[in-house]
Order: sequence, then C-alpha cells, then structure tokens
Amino acid sequence: MSLEVANVSASYGAVRALWDVSISVSQGQFVCLVGANGAGKSTLLKTIVGMIPPRSGTIRFNGRGISNLRTHSIIRMGIGFVPEGRRLFPTLSVEENLRMGAPRAINNLEDSLKKVYTLFPVLEEKRKQKAIALSGGEQQMVAIGRALMGSPRLLILDELSFGLAPIIFDRVLSTILQIKQAGVSVLMAEQNAERALEVSDYSYVMENGRVVKHGRSTDLIDDPLVKEAYLGMDE
Ligand SMILES: Nc1ncnc2c1ncn2[C@@H]1O[C@H](COP(=O)(O)OP(=O)(O)OP(=O)(O)O)[C@@H](O)[C@H]1O
Ligand SMILES: [Mg+2]
Repeated sequence: MSLEVANVSASYGAVRALWDVSISVSQGQFVCLVGANGAGKSTLLKTIVGMIPPRSGTIRFNGRGISNLRTHSIIRMGIGFVPEGRRLFPTLSVEENLRMGAPRAINNLEDSLKKVYTLFPVLEEKRKQKAIALSGGEQQMVAIGRALMGSPRLLILDELSFGLAPIIFDRVLSTILQIKQAGVSVLMAEQNAERALEVSDYSYVMENGRVVKHGRSTDLIDDPLVKEAYLGMDE
C-alpha cells in the first residue's frame, strides 16, 4: 500500500486553498498533517478522497492514478475516511450507521461488523441506540468503525480530537495505534500537534495551503520552530 500526492493544487472557486502539495504514506506508516486553523489540512484530505477535484498535480494509490475518480470508487480501492465533525446520520442507529460504511457489493458484511464490535465493544452494547444519543467519544468510534467496514488498507482521519476531552481523545488514539498494528496505514490531520507528533511516524507541517516542513515526527518535536509555533513552548 502506498499513497503518493505530488504537486497538488486545489481551489474553492477563485480562492486557492492548496499550493503544490506533495506528501506520501507508505505501507504501515502513521503520517500526520499538522498546522493551524485554515492551513489546508481538511482540503488536502478531501482532495485525496475525491471530494474536491485537484486543479493540478497527481494522486496515486498503489501506483494507480486516482485524481479523476469519484469518492465511492476511491473508497472501494481500500481507503477509509473519517471526515471532520464525524458526519454521522444522527437519527439512525449505531448499527445502521456502521452498515452505511460497507461497500454495496460486500459479502462479508457481518464479519466486518463483528470486527468493529471487537475493536469497540461499547458499540455492540449500544448497537440499537440512535447515534445522537451517544457521547462524543462513542460517536467518534462509530465514525471510525464506519470507515473500517470496507476493510481499508489506508485510514484517513480528519481532526479526531474534535469536541473530545483530552482523555477520551487519548483513548481513541490508542485504538488507532491498534488498527495500525494490524497493518493499516494511517493519514491523520490534527490541530493538536503535540499528540499528533507523539503518536505518528512522520509528519507534514502545513501553513497557508503549503507544506512548510516535514520529517520524522520525533525530529519535529525537537525542532525549535515547530515548538514555538505549534507546541506552545518557547526555547
Ligand atoms: N467550503 C469552502 N469554501 C471556501 N473556502 C473554504 C471552504 N473550506 C475551507 N475553505 C478555506 O480553505 C482554507 C483551508 O481550509 P481547511 O478547512 O482545509 O483548513 P484546516 O487546516 O483543515 O483547518 P482546521 O484546523 O480549522 O480544520 C481556509 O482558508 C478556508 O477558509
Ligand atoms: Mg480541518
């Protein structure tokens, strides 16, 4: 599994939001995008999953160009997506939300459900409850579980910390590490740079629609500019 994004630009109407962005995620790697509000993290993820058409550049997944494909085709190739704000169907049950994540032709849907319930036992207990009745952390589990229903090789996560208490966010992150242990590659956008750099292998720092720095996450944690701008520590 590999994802290669090369020189991608994207716009909202006349407003340019990404400038020549290049990133890559290799097999088994946990990669983070960090950067302030409005840096372009979500725009990049949405461009990768085909929700925003790139103006220029190329996006390849397992060697195959995907920049002209529709979102459902990209998902079917083995990419799971957890959007910012989770986007659950609030009045549908937990299990109905999970089933929404299964590709139409899937024949092992019950196996996929079982795997999600093994990862998140609380979702099995609450499988008949409406999504809206769950806590923020449980809703995030549903969003992750839904993205896992198609057995992705790459899981793309946008702002998991959204609306979660730090301790709950930490629990969600440890599940993501478990998913990674099982061989799934991860690409995660996160405003909480400190946690993002701690859990990931490699990170890209974005500012104003551009990648301004990238490197091994452990090196970026010690980088004075990253510390000052994103970790709230002056040296
Ligand atoms: N639907 C939209 N229409 C027009 N401009 C948009 C739209 N969504 C985002 N933008 C603009 O694109 C730029 C990048 O936004 P984006 O949401 O990708 O940032 P982000 O890094 O995900 O920020 P955050 O950390 O707040 O989620 C910003 O200037 C934003 O105002
Ligand atoms: Mg965002």
